[in-house]
Amino acid sequence: MTEDESALKRTAGESAAELVTDGMAIGLGTGSTAAQAIRALGERVDNGLSVRGIPTSFQSRELAREHGIPLTSLDETTPDLAIDGADQVSGATLVKGGGAAHAREKVVDTAAERLVIVVDPSKTAETLDHPVPVEVLPDARSTVATQVRDLGGDSVLRDAERKDGPVVTDNGNLVLDCDFGKISDSGALAADLSRLPGVVEHGLFVDCTDEIHIGTADGVRVERP
Ligand code: A5P
Repeated sequence: MTEDESALKRTAGESAAELVTDGMAIGLGTGSTAAQAIRALGERVDNGLSVRGIPTSFQSRELAREHGIPLTSLDETTPDLAIDGADQVSGATLVKGGGAAHAREKVVDTAAERLVIVVDPSKTAETLDHPVPVEVLPDARSTVATQVRDLGGDSVLRDAERKDGPVVTDNGNLVLDCDFGKISDSGALAADLSRLPGVVEHGLFVDCTDEIHIGTADGVRVERP
């Protein structure tokens, strides 16, 4: 990541962290942009803000602990606000899962009263065309790949660069990155993917975003789709 990209992500993350008020439970998203929001929130906690975080991954849990944010869970409370990143945004619909955390992210993000997405401008698109990450039970990787082909997609098993073997999610599953080209009907594709046996969760988040904070060189741009 260049210094410029990192600054744009910081602008977006800091802006979203400003929305947090005393006593809130906050869904803590995963990825490099959500991490900027968690760091900024940690600074506010240092200065006396009282919040509890609900992490969406091992990464966000560790980061929250490192930054002194007390943790809770969905068993204890409902998040007032969730702050999360995205791989691509079109209107209120997202593709997520670049960090393979989309299953827990979807549970936390959709449970929240309000979902704020933090991105840099490269993530916005007229029409979604980013490959959709699909978390699958290990035994279902081949059957799901075949059914994804029947739906018009090409899938690749996600491979870790510095590891012998595939990426394994926090839930012990595998990820197929499924390229459907331009996604004209995200609702229909989301429903089709959810129906496949062995699919734990896919990265299409349909119509679920309240606000998008886009970090730009001139400051933050907020969109309410
Ligand atoms: C994690 O699984 C993802 O959904 C991330 O939120 C998404 O990939 C965005 O990550 P970056 O902010 O690092 O681009």
